[in-house]
Amino acid sequence: MLHARITGTGGFLPETVYTNAHLETMVDTTDEWIRKRTGIGQRHVAGPGEGASDLAIPAAEEALGNAGVAPADVDLIICCTTTPDYLFPATACIIQDALGARKAAAYDVNAACSGFLYGLTSANAFIVSGMYRTVLVTGTESATNRLNWQKRDTSVLFGDGAGAVVLEADDSGRGILSTYLGADGSGADLLIRPAGGSKVLITKDNLDGPECDVHMKGAELFKRAAVLFEEAAQKALERAGLSLEDVDLFVPHQANARIIGAAAKRLGLPEDKVMLNIERVANTTAASIPLALHEAVSEGRIREGNTVLLASFGSGLTWGAAVIRW
Ligand code: COA
Repeated sequence: MLHARITGTGGFLPETVYTNAHLETMVDTTDEWIRKRTGIGQRHVAGPGEGASDLAIPAAEEALGNAGVAPADVDLIICCTTTPDYLFPATACIIQDALGARKAAAYDVNAACSGFLYGLTSANAFIVSGMYRTVLVTGTESATNRLNWQKRDTSVLFGDGAGAVVLEADDSGRGILSTYLGADGSGADLLIRPAGGSKVLITKDNLDGPECDVHMKGAELFKRAAVLFEEAAQKALERAGLSLEDVDLFVPHQANARIIGAAAKRLGLPEDKVMLNIERVANTTAASIPLALHEAVSEGRIREGNTVLLASFGSGLTWGAAVIRW
């Protein structure tokens, strides 16, 4: 049976780091509050004009190098992002050109923090159906350039970065065993940046106004996140015919260490089976899972034959999970 196997991972973080101590000089907050409520200690911050593609390209090059795949052999590039370079064309096309992946089709996916799992699920479907053999999926965000740092309930949470994976058709039994996706648009207002699309235009009058800010109902999201993480993880495991005891490493979306802790507790997963890098990178939205996955692979925490569980939750609302035999 054909599976989509991750044969290479890559990651990239912009050079500039804002520690919590640095944020204390920008907004009314404290290192203690941020660490205690979120587990975040610092975040990487893209430079002016450093867009989502600039972060994704080095991550993609590293993933292709680790997979031993030439850009010319890539059939499809899916770029998962809420902060594309432009409204159009798709950031995936900019990445395709920079990589020299001439034969690759390319498009973007926006499912916020679940973007990577939506992209991964699409890539899996293309490979399992036999339509494509080699797919590059990248999650990338250059979000902080547009953050209102004065809005402390959201500004302390986010960071920039990119992660990428190369998926190839494989019949050895390794690869993605199952995926599960969910959405509930009735929760759209729980995490939203209203302006910038076609519904609320950015005008010279609202440029510095609240419509251009990120609005988040944090406590409500928090409550729903832990439950939906669990639901997604259980559903994906069920589809794979596996149980939580089979999981070697849980790589969740890094939204908040307390949410991850609550989800792991509900799932009955011990700390040493949970990948956490939020302390160093904060919430990088669609880049969060592929970055954490790349770090786990690089640190030797994932080995051949391991069962890896991915799960996410984010704006939309959207959520999802995947089970992978590495
Ligand atoms: N620094 C200091 N104080 C802050 C602060 C900051 N950065 N942000 C908020 N506060 C204050 C609030 O003003 C409030 O003060 P008050 O009690 O005087 O009114 C107090 O801290 C508590 O705020 P509250 O929002 O109740 O805190 P919380 O425990 O719910 O934590 C979040 C806030 C955002 C950390 C938490 O709700 C969360 O993580 N939610 C999920 C967010 C998320 O995951 N978003 C991404 C989804 S992918």
